[in-house]
Amino acid sequence: MRSASIKKRKSAPVSVHHQRIVVRHDFPVVFTWHLFSPCNPALFDALNRGDGPRPRRCLVVLDKGVAAAFPELSAQIRAYFADKSKLVRLVRAPLAIAGGEAVKQSTAAVRRILDALRAGNICRHSFCIAVGGGAFLDAAGLAAALFHRGVRLVRVPTTALAQCDSGVGVKNAINYAGAKNLLGTFAPPWAVLNDADFLDSLPLPLLLNGIAEAVKVAAIKDAAFFRAIERAAPKIRRRDLPAIRRILRRCALLHLDHIATSGDPYELGTARPLDYGHWAAHKLESMSHHHLSHGHAVAVGIALDALYAARAGLLPQKQAHRLVDVLRACGLPVYAPELAQTDRRGRLAILAGLEEFRAHLGGELTLTLPAPLGSRIEIHSVDSSLVSTCIAQLARRGQPLNLESQSQDSRFKG
Ligand SMILES: NC(=O)c1ccc[n+]([C@@H]2O[C@H](COP(=O)([O-])OP(=O)(O)OC[C@H]3O[C@@H](n4cnc5c(N)ncnc54)[C@H](O)[C@@H]3O)[C@@H](O)[C@H]2O)c1
Ligand SMILES: [Zn+2]
Repeated sequence: MRSASIKKRKSAPVSVHHQRIVVRHDFPVVFTWHLFSPCNPALFDALNRGDGPRPRRCLVVLDKGVAAAFPELSAQIRAYFADKSKLVRLVRAPLAIAGGEAVKQSTAAVRRILDALRAGNICRHSFCIAVGGGAFLDAAGLAAALFHRGVRLVRVPTTALAQCDSGVGVKNAINYAGAKNLLGTFAPPWAVLNDADFLDSLPLPLLLNGIAEAVKVAAIKDAAFFRAIERAAPKIRRRDLPAIRRILRRCALLHLDHIATSGDPYELGTARPLDYGHWAAHKLESMSHHHLSHGHAVAVGIALDALYAARAGLLPQKQAHRLVDVLRACGLPVYAPELAQTDRRGRLAILAGLEEFRAHLGGELTLTLPAPLGSRIEIHSVDSSLVSTCIAQLARRGQPLNLESQSQDSRFKG
């Protein structure tokens, strides 16, 4: 009866109320040392921001890799909270869980953290404090975002990559069904506390993971920063921590600026500039069964896309070579054997990463390329024969760099 009367009219009645919700997020990103020393105010100030009952209830979850590198850390954290017990309280001893990519490969760690949040009666006015590398923070961030639809998360990033990129952003995720970051949420943290002491224990390859993200963001956003990395490359390769810290801090600020000002913090559009080089990087990570770290995979991915941009006529060739050279000069790889793997039909297996990337973003394929260095361009299709040529070129250039045989000047000019 009703559908018959609707059919008679030209169009069905529609009444639309336009709902607008504006949500502002403010959170401190602190650069400090000795975070858990009783005289450092950073953590205390972060926990006392906003309302909520005192003492603040806190669950600390700790990346086991960090706990192993700093055996006194758990006791230090307990002593820190004992010192201020009227205002902040630990609901249990820090919960240590193995970190690294394995923590994202199943739901086990997320569930353990959820159980601990429940057992500790953590509410939306209390805190989950996650101390660890990027993978650990991603998993802990997902648990914190799910529990009570989101409890306050304080991130304490402990790797170079986490301090300059993943830890300062607004995302979390775990891998699922073989796909990188398939399950996750956008959830800005309550605070980010970057303690430079944590970098002391990192071997050079883990420090370089952060440098790869710095080269990435410099190449598409900041030519002066790119030149600064070129100048710092010999120091970076020698593991000069003050030089590395300076680069990581500037990288973090560029990421923060992009998230705050790009107009798309929750990545609703199809462009994702901070994921320059990541279509190949994510695919390489899974093809290598995560033997290749995210940062090293990013180095290979941005080298590949820089050569592609040059061959597509978007980036001067000299600049593409500078990008490849700076990665190598820092000690990063620009080639991985997985790049040359073919599928059953003889097609380069890496190319499947393009469709996976498109599906992850939704909508039209959109890749960001540097053009020229320090600024960017977006493309929507990829010529697979050009990719193949670039891979062959990288295979030749990817040989270890014999630094001794070259003067610094000859390496960095052009
Ligand atoms: N959420 C985001 O926006 C975002 C952005 C970029 C990357 N990521 C993710 O970050 C992850 C990579 O993070 P990562 O590079 O920090 O590596 P990681 O978290 O995998 O850590 C690497 C290893 O270092 C150990 N470790 C951590 N801190 C240490 C320390 N101070 N001393 C000694 N060992 C330490 C860990 O236990 C682990 O074994 C990837 O899963 C990637 O997808 C997320
Ligand atoms: Zn990345």
